[in-house]
Amino acid sequence: MRRIFILLLAAVLVSCQTKETKIPVVGTTANKAMVVSAHPLASKVGLDILKKGGNAVDASIAIQFALAVTYPTAGNLGGGGFMVARFNDGTVDALDYREAAPSKATTNMYLGETGEAIPELSTAGHLASGVPGTVAGLEAAHQKYGKLPWRELVQPAIDLALNGFTLTEKEADGLNGVREKLEKYNTVSPRHFIKEEWAKGDSIWNKDLGHTLELIRDNGRAGFYEGKTAENIVAEMQRGNGLLSAEDLKAYQAIWRTPLISEYRGHKIISMPPPSSGGVALVQLLKSVSSYPVNEWGWNSVPTAHLMVEAERRAYADRAAYLGDPDFVKVPVGELTNDAYISERMKSYNPDRATPSENLKEGTIASAESEQTTHLSVVDEAGNAVSVTTTLNGGYGSKVVVAGSGFLLNNEMDDFSAKPGAPNMYGAIGGEANKIEPGKRMLSSMTPTIVEKDGKLLMVVGTPGGTTIITSVFQIIVDVIDHKMGMQEAVNAKRFHSQWLPDVVFMEQGAFTKDDSLQLVEMGHEFKSRGGIGRVDAILVLPDGRLEGGADPRGDDTAAGY
Ligand code: GLY
Repeated sequence: MRRIFILLLAAVLVSCQTKETKIPVVGTTANKAMVVSAHPLASKVGLDILKKGGNAVDASIAIQFALAVTYPTAGNLGGGGFMVARFNDGTVDALDYREAAPSKATTNMYLGETGEAIPELSTAGHLASGVPGTVAGLEAAHQKYGKLPWRELVQPAIDLALNGFTLTEKEADGLNGVREKLEKYNTVSPRHFIKEEWAKGDSIWNKDLGHTLELIRDNGRAGFYEGKTAENIVAEMQRGNGLLSAEDLKAYQAIWRTPLISEYRGHKIISMPPPSSGGVALVQLLKSVSSYPVNEWGWNSVPTAHLMVEAERRAYADRAAYLGDPDFVKVPVGELTNDAYISERMKSYNPDRATPSENLKEGTIASAESEQTTHLSVVDEAGNAVSVTTTLNGGYGSKVVVAGSGFLLNNEMDDFSAKPGAPNMYGAIGGEANKIEPGKRMLSSMTPTIVEKDGKLLMVVGTPGGTTIITSVFQIIVDVIDHKMGMQEAVNAKRFHSQWLPDVVFMEQGAFTKDDSLQLVEMGHEFKSRGGIGRVDAILVLPDGRLEGGADPRGDDTAAGY
């Protein structure tokens, strides 16, 4: 009976589905330098900086400031991010400017009187914000690696905020969609973002944000973490019962970390270590599939998809149990990414049957992560590469705009486990390693990654997408290395995602043929169709040395090069 039900369900799910035919698509190509970001104006800002002689780090800083203006759903001053860089001499570095829990945060701050998690508290409003890290991170990156003067990197964003720009259709839809929540959660009306009905082509500007950016241009991090901006943040918190204090802001520091380095089929993988779970899980996934002939099996074929889902099931169970802020909990990175450990984990892999997640070693998983993050990739003329993923967490973060300063605050506190050890509203279980503690950074899935082949740069890659970030980066790497796709082709290719719990494979329409879906269902997989997974922005070095940008058609993402 159950089997008939599953088959019927599968038939419904795949009825209008045909696997996308593999039409080779070529993205924007350039001989010298390339940027790819979520917004055409931000990509233009980055390109201009490169043409002026700025390096990849400079361009990435200018793009992030520009995204804070043009792409408020995820670009930010009030959020945080990670940067992975590879320089043309082969050296690598990683910067963690993830938000941190305020000093007044407590482990049980999102629990009600009877101990139940109250999701709204961690997802919207003043209590949802961690201490923002972006401005500290961008200044730290500039101090260590910047070439052009700081003010030249901030100025384009100021011009956009003060002079205005026109909305894309997607951003107009986004602002219309969030209007009610902006009205609900703000203590002072965020008039810059509110209009009866936004439409494509409307002009929008934000003088308060422009002036905040001027303070940052003239004073660096002190223009944000001290003085008028800090006072406005603290006043906003007092009006809305939030926790961020003047001391929290002043004390915030970005942290240089050692990138996580691994190998996949002769390629060097350079990715983000904890407090991101991204690098660790990515390495686990790649190692789990590395001894199987996925190239022979073919893209999204039954054996390839089955293997990848089984690897994902195991990696996400580990992610949930072991990953957290390494400055607060011991994260066993070496053990989790060890070859022998991965082989042991894959011993229970059955090529003919799905492993029910309930039969896998119990772990824990953070509450379902929101997907409104953004990624940018840059390669400069000298061959330096930067991969940055930055976020407010949910779309438009906590929905709280700092009055007088014009920027949105994050709702990153929701990336902590609100209630360690007990199921949350999604039936998932929160991990002890990721419980809330003052000053601690919440676990992330952001996976900015760089791939090297024979000592040379090959690819810069990353994406937004909450927990789907890791599996999207995994698929892009497999698509390029195993299935020999070009960059735009890999970015366009339909994706799927599995994360141990819930025990289901999410897929975009067109990811599998009807026959393959049915066969996978017979093997014990359950599918759920959903909209776009991720928005990958990536750059590939082609065999002749040219650069191919892959800008995700799921958004307004744009590649620009010269
Ligand atoms: N807030 C999304 C992430 O950090 O993974």
